[in-house]
Amino acid sequence: MDSSITPHLACARSRQRRIADDYAPPYPAWSARIDPAVERVVMANYGVQWRNPADALRALAHARDLHATLDATSGARHVDLARYVDEAGYDTLVVQPYWTDPSAFRRWETRDEVAALRSAETGLGHFREILTPTVDRLETLYSTEDEMEGIGRALATRSPPVQEHAYWGSARDRFPIAQTDALAPGGQLGFTVASSGHVTVGGHANIAIIRSGQDWGPTSGEERRLYLEEIEPVLRAGMDFLRDRGGECGCYVNRYMRIVDLDGTPQEKSFGWSYWRSLADMEGWSEGHPTHLAIFGTFMKTVQALNFDLKLRLWHEVYAVTPEQQYYDYRNCHAETGFLKQLPR
Ligand code: HEM
Repeated sequence: MDSSITPHLACARSRQRRIADDYAPPYPAWSARIDPAVERVVMANYGVQWRNPADALRALAHARDLHATLDATSGARHVDLARYVDEAGYDTLVVQPYWTDPSAFRRWETRDEVAALRSAETGLGHFREILTPTVDRLETLYSTEDEMEGIGRALATRSPPVQEHAYWGSARDRFPIAQTDALAPGGQLGFTVASSGHVTVGGHANIAIIRSGQDWGPTSGEERRLYLEEIEPVLRAGMDFLRDRGGECGCYVNRYMRIVDLDGTPQEKSFGWSYWRSLADMEGWSEGHPTHLAIFGTFMKTVQALNFDLKLRLWHEVYAVTPEQQYYDYRNCHAETGFLKQLPR
């Protein structure tokens, strides 16, 4: 079977996979393939935050203005817009563009109209969370053979069915860099607070990030009922746990987000977006914590009830980044926003 690791990124392993070479997964899944010309990707989050419902239209207008700059000349390969309500009850819209060329990203970010939007005094909260991993530091998995999502849309090419999935530890086995590197965390978060209150956060080594998506648009009948009535409530409980008590298992930040269109209308697509102290902490939660085990168990029951014929689209992308491959800043945001809640007080 094909490996999830794009062939040109494969090397002699000093760290072994958790499976035997003849392992065959019980159901198929696919990964994005990486063009050898792509060395690094950019996954950016531009958040606009508000509390008073009267500010919602202004926040949407700001997000739309930023979205409008992400046209073909920006070089962005894919853009999502998503919304969530955070642990402090603040509403947030996040524009999420992806690039496969970091220089195109830098050109776009320094354009006059983009710089003006980024520094605009709106009275709302604004944050930037930017990941620039080299391609050996990302892995993807898609449960259906149709169009990919997120970074998969930017990378554009899909693998054949891959071998490394459907067992705990498979995410690590899909990382090219984990062929030779344990991805152990190192160092500390660093905070720089300006007199304006603007906070810049430096990440430490091997922070792990997951975007774990669900698309129930194509489901119908019994499958739709099972997703909405049995899987989604369990997923929400798991997401609430990570948001409110994630610190207990190494999760710095968790957002359960809904894709919206440019009018703010929710689509039938959601995802969890979370930052972890390490890949090991993320693995520990997914394979050991009652909340993900409940999500996983309900899903498995459903898959079997539907005889493995699922229309529900599940996918994820995971990154493990060096300190230089992450950048976070917060302007006029409340004190529990993103990494700010880790600020020593
Ligand atoms: C409806 C929601 C979800 C379902 C049905 C689900 C189900 C699953 C399944 C079936 C796998 C194994 C996939 C494979 O290898 O074939 C898996 C792995 C995983 N899930 Fe979830 N999941 C959901 C949401 C999430 C969320 C929101 C997170 C993020 C915080 C998450 C984190 C993980 C991780 C890290 C793994 C890889 C574990 C490893 O390789 O050891 N899942 N999940």
